[in-house]
Amino acid sequence: MTITLRNEHKKDYRVVEEITREAFWNLQVPGCDEHYLVHIMRNHPDFIKDLDFVAIMEDKIVGNIMYAKSSLVNEEGLPLKTTTFGPVSVLPELQRKGIGSKLIQHTIEKAKEMGYKAIIIYGHPHNYCKHGFVGSKSLNVSDNEGRFPYSLLVLELEKGCLKGHNWKYISSVVYYGITEEAFKEFDAGFATKEKCFMPSQEEFNIACRAFVE
Ligand SMILES: CC(C)(COP(=O)(O)OP(=O)(O)OC[C@H]1O[C@@H](n2cnc3c(N)ncnc32)[C@H](O)[C@@H]1OP(=O)(O)O)[C@@H](O)C(=O)NCCC(=O)NCCS
Repeated sequence: MTITLRNEHKKDYRVVEEITREAFWNLQVPGCDEHYLVHIMRNHPDFIKDLDFVAIMEDKIVGNIMYAKSSLVNEEGLPLKTTTFGPVSVLPELQRKGIGSKLIQHTIEKAKEMGYKAIIIYGHPHNYCKHGFVGSKSLNVSDNEGRFPYSLLVLELEKGCLKGHNWKYISSVVYYGITEEAFKEFDAGFATKEKCFMPSQEEFNIACRAFVE
């Protein structure tokens, strides 16, 4: 199985949105809106075009990863340039074959080359600790309210750069930019799919309400 990676092009937009929808459908909530997030991210000032990659297998796009600018601010108010990825998606039938890891590892290296000091994400630790991410508490990175969410994970790209300070994560507003009306109109342009309960939704609920002491 040969997988190549390249930046996303305009002609890929719809396919990437469909893959994202397939990957997230019923995973965290009944249905999903990550395909709309992908759609609005590309036109947002925080979007990092150079870190927008697709994975190709036999001339077909099978996965995607997108990043936005973010920052950390320490107790003295000094900011640090960081980045955040998500969504990251692989077509369900091709998951667990190393494609997601390839997208993540490749873009970690790229982000490092681009001078970002750290990658901060909300995600399932199982998916990301294997790529070097640690819980935010370990590096004194809190959310905006000073808490350490279970799902808030940090990867230093410059080893030791976070040491000796307390940091607050400032997310891009793009991740909170979905409006119900606009989303519904957008989603109506996709094939009908059944919304249902999946146990992964309860796992997601638990993770969202969990904080590290
Ligand atoms: C999360 C996601 C992007 C990961 O992509 P992926 O291609 O499935 O990930 P990988 O194949 O690199 O790794 C997944 C697992 O497959 C295993 N794996 C990798 N290559 C393998 C192979 N050739 N044979 C068997 N297993 C393999 C990995 O070791 C890993 O195992 P683990 O889960 O026990 O640690 C993908 O599963 C996805 O789109 N999920 C739905 C959307 C989602 O959850 N996005 C992230 C939100 S936090």
